[in-house]
Amino acid sequence: MTNNPVILTGDRTTGPLHIGHFAGSLRNRLRFQDSHDQYLLLADTQALTDNAHDPAKIRRSVMEVALDYLAVGIDPEKSTICLQSHLPALAELSMLYLNFVTVARLERNPTIKDEIRVRGFGHNVPAGFLCYPAAQAADITAFRATREPVGADQAPLIEQTNEIVRRINAAAEKDILPEAEAVIPRSGRLPGIDGKAKMSKSGGNAIPLSASPDAIATAVRAMYTDPGHLRIDDPGKVEGNVVFAYLDAFDEDEAAVQELKAQYGRGGLGDAVIKRRLNGVLEALIAPIRQRREEFAKHPDHVLNVIRAGTQRAREVTEATKRDVVNGLGLFQL
Ligand code: TRP
Repeated sequence: MTNNPVILTGDRTTGPLHIGHFAGSLRNRLRFQDSHDQYLLLADTQALTDNAHDPAKIRRSVMEVALDYLAVGIDPEKSTICLQSHLPALAELSMLYLNFVTVARLERNPTIKDEIRVRGFGHNVPAGFLCYPAAQAADITAFRATREPVGADQAPLIEQTNEIVRRINAAAEKDILPEAEAVIPRSGRLPGIDGKAKMSKSGGNAIPLSASPDAIATAVRAMYTDPGHLRIDDPGKVEGNVVFAYLDAFDEDEAAVQELKAQYGRGGLGDAVIKRRLNGVLEALIAPIRQRREEFAKHPDHVLNVIRAGTQRAREVTEATKRDVVNGLGLFQL
């Protein structure tokens, strides 16, 4: 342990991660791992909140997400990778926290509202799903995290975490838990290749971080641009054009992208040209990740040991916080 500020983020284990995760949070997590005590949570119990019908998928995906972490360059010497279902303090804190949030407030959380709609739960919202913001507050506070490098969609969850923290501190009459600050990329949320919603595994509009060259090419070919841009000479729309959104997120030559946007807007630049450029940018991003992932995948025991050691370390930290909260609230001691 150091005096560095603490980061805790996580990912639901529902399948391999995609380039939206990379742009939204993985890139920041890589940047922060030298200067922070960083924890990465394989959120398998949170995955259960909307996948209770398919626990086998959640189990399989634990290794997939861990492989993605290692493949992008998360270094287990610097960052602690741990498994949510094996950290009982998180479940215990969740139960306590549920008393510091109302059902109405959970129902008003914009991310929850949006996810309920997208998942088509209607009136059959699993209770665990509605309540997962309290569980996520438990994740964040159990590690005493103060910084949260997350995608824009997670901001309302950090806000709700801080509300719970303030209520608990008020009930304890001292600051037993710190608030956390969301660190969100300026580029905002990466759209899916169809341009419609956010990129998601379930939406079928994602490019996985382990995509093959063929899969990248197919995705780029299918990518939404400007349906009104019929002839090369026609002016094209940059706004809402997925190819440009991805170039903004991943092409390091910002000046060249600005120039292409101007040219596209004036007319005279075809979709084939910008798509070819994006294909190259994505292949350059993904190729080394894909290669490292294949290497790590050959050594599942090593990956398992990384998760085991990380979970052990995380257990100590989270148990200590749980004791602080129970004591801080002044519950009976035996
Ligand atoms: N909600 C995140 C997701 O949808 C996963 C997650 C679980 C998380 N616990 C967290 C993110 C704590 C940030 C902090 O993938």
